[in-house]
Amino acid sequence: MPILSDPLHIKGLRLPNRLVMAPMVTGLAEDHLATDAQVAWYRDHARRGLGLVIVESTAVLPDATIMPRLLGAWDDAQVPGLARIAGAIREQGVPAVLQIVHGGARSVREDPAVARLAPSEVALLPGPAPRAMTEDEIQAVITAFAQAARRARAAGFDGVEIHAAHYYLISQFLSPVTNHRTDRWGGSARNRFRLGIAVARAVREAVGKDFLIFCRLHAIENLEGGLSTEEAAAFAQDLEEAGVDVIDASGIGQSSLGDWEGHPFLNTSSVPPKGTPGGGYAPAARQLREAVGIPVITVGKLSEPGLAQSVLDRGQADLVALARPLIADFGVAEKLLEGRDGEIKRCEECLACFAAIRKGPIRCSVNWDL
Ligand SMILES: Cc1cc2nc3c(=O)[nH]c(=O)nc-3n(C[C@H](O)[C@H](O)[C@H](O)COP(=O)(O)O)c2cc1C
Repeated sequence: MPILSDPLHIKGLRLPNRLVMAPMVTGLAEDHLATDAQVAWYRDHARRGLGLVIVESTAVLPDATIMPRLLGAWDDAQVPGLARIAGAIREQGVPAVLQIVHGGARSVREDPAVARLAPSEVALLPGPAPRAMTEDEIQAVITAFAQAARRARAAGFDGVEIHAAHYYLISQFLSPVTNHRTDRWGGSARNRFRLGIAVARAVREAVGKDFLIFCRLHAIENLEGGLSTEEAAAFAQDLEEAGVDVIDASGIGQSSLGDWEGHPFLNTSSVPPKGTPGGGYAPAARQLREAVGIPVITVGKLSEPGLAQSVLDRGQADLVALARPLIADFGVAEKLLEGRDGEIKRCEECLACFAAIRKGPIRCSVNWDL
């Protein structure tokens, strides 16, 4: 079994070790363009021992943003800013991958009268239910993902990550909870997978054969009637066949029903519940890893002492991603690689980071530099 400091080669690209910065919205973009503060954020992280940086969710269309201050990749004018981020990471000898997203029913709306698009009319945020997409709208989204990937390549990234997790648009199509369609985009697993696979194929077509394509999906949904881990594994196999190079296996940690003026909406979260042990998503990641022949990433409170290495020892993943631990302490990767786990400043799972990015730049209650 590999150790954390072992490099990994993916299609000729060398990752210096097994620690990955998970994609995290920073709220540092302005007008959907990269800022100096955002470039510095990525440079400061990349020089602290990471083997790969996956840059935050970046919208493929202006009406698809998942937070107000999100990066965009729907316009060539956004490429120079993205290039500054890619450059800041790659200058440190660390590969950079850009995550691209469409929020679907979870897209931000300043004007509630503008409908959100989704597979079906299932609300995932307070406000009016989304509108079911037409065939033309689905095709336009596929094209938008391909164009965004082309821009990521033009910006100098080593790869792109298709966001098919966390109840954003592609995963809304995957899950029977949010996809009630009766056409070729809904019903059977094959139909629910269709959008994700079409996006993967279109992205491959747009970027050529050498550029890396990652896909993030949740390997465990923790929701009755939702996407099962067996289905997620089957989807991962189809993605591999469609030309995806890496599976980034995340999870849904908790879900609840909210109420908006008497209308229910489904609230879901990608973080494991507070107080639960780290590595809760890793057994499901392993199921996906057994189904495919490409590298798999796992995530979820993995900075606890010894845990990152034990994920590799158990064969649960090839790469270990960290999100909140890196907000609380930019030096986590260095400390894990040097066996200084005890010196890590711990995330308190207060979710102040999430609250902050809903309106402005990221904040942390234990890292006062932010
Ligand atoms: C502030 C914040 C922003 C996030 N933004 C993204 C994102 O842009 N894309 C994504 O796939 N996941 C995002 N996530 C989820 C993380 O990548 C990760 O899967 C989750 O936080 C669990 O890992 P952790 O326990 O290491 O924090 C975000 C999480 C946080 C805390």
